[in-house]
Amino acid sequence: MTNAPKNDAARRAVGIGQGWHPDAARSMSLHTDAYTKDEWFEVDQRAIIAASWQWICHGEKLAEPGSYVAETVADMGIVAVRGTDGVLRCFYNVCKHRAHHLLEGHGTTKNIVCPYHAWSYDLGGQLRSARHTKHLVDFDTANICLDEVQVEEFGGSVFVNLDADAPSLAEQSGDLGAEIARWVPDVANLTFAHRLTYEIKSNWKNVVDNFLECYHCHIAHKDFVSLVDMDTYTVTTHDIYSSHMAEAGTSDNSAYDVSDATVTDHAVWWLWPNTCLMRYPGRGNLIVLKIIPAGPDRTFETYDFYLESAEPNEAELESIRYLDEVLQVEDINLVESVQRGMSTPAFTQGRIVADPVGSGLSEHALHHFHGLVLEHYDQCKAVGIPALNSDRGED
Ligand code: FES
Ligand SMILES: [Fe+2]
Repeated sequence: MTNAPKNDAARRAVGIGQGWHPDAARSMSLHTDAYTKDEWFEVDQRAIIAASWQWICHGEKLAEPGSYVAETVADMGIVAVRGTDGVLRCFYNVCKHRAHHLLEGHGTTKNIVCPYHAWSYDLGGQLRSARHTKHLVDFDTANICLDEVQVEEFGGSVFVNLDADAPSLAEQSGDLGAEIARWVPDVANLTFAHRLTYEIKSNWKNVVDNFLECYHCHIAHKDFVSLVDMDTYTVTTHDIYSSHMAEAGTSDNSAYDVSDATVTDHAVWWLWPNTCLMRYPGRGNLIVLKIIPAGPDRTFETYDFYLESAEPNEAELESIRYLDEVLQVEDINLVESVQRGMSTPAFTQGRIVADPVGSGLSEHALHHFHGLVLEHYDQCKAVGIPALNSDRGED
């Protein structure tokens, strides 16, 4: 007698956690099905991306009344808006008439007018006018409002969460706010200077995995390890984030010019599930990397540079070039190769390489990430995410 599920999809749902162990030194990595199969991509979108705090922008973009930023989260349009009352709100970017999107990009506005039939909403999401509707029965604009989404200002940035029941980011993230305040005390004064974008032929979790360990750094990033003092590199995991800290930029290096650096730290945080905040050697700066799932084997990345001035100086231009033309090329080659390997029958899981002191060579933060992924997969099994349950019970 066995209670084993009777089909592949259900077997995968049950077996996806096999091999992972709470002790990193005994653990395997996450099963490759989670990196290659359509159904797990859907679960990632619904149970992870649509249920977590997603970075939208630096606070400067939404500081003024009337300012708005339209974005996409798990393929769904949202728009964050600062009301004339000064309150920051976020809505699904979806008109209540026939579901057309409302605002695009970013800017400032006095009201939200749908480009399709011009229904007009105030910045609180309330429908104020709808053309040619006076003959309708039981129709009252006062009863129609845009659907709200959770929004929060945290660590100098704006985050949203499509899960209406999610605890606040400040509550979930423990000391992260204090760490950002300590290492990036000037965050509120930094301004947008540059964006780099990438499309990567890999699952988003491979990109996160690669970000979370520096075991590969001596091998793959010769210039990076001349910029960052790897002997001081420590990685600490916390509930929903990890801190990756090292001294950096104090010596001659082959990455970029740091001779005028006022920041001599490499202070990096990964925040569940797909946001990375980075303070690199140089002038005051914050670099925000957003890892955006685009398909089982496709990921978009945005790197936003917030600097002391909107015009990067020479050293900053050099650091942006280094990141774009060297470091990113190295990392993208790595993760695309891993994705190809995971798509063969030759690999399903590998050992986590961890050390007890949490050095830069240890993969315990990657193991921590996999533990969080599995926790969310378990939760979605419990609530019956269709992607997992559609085949269940069928013979
Ligand atoms: S869909 Fe927005 S006004 Fe018709
Ligand atoms: Fe790397």
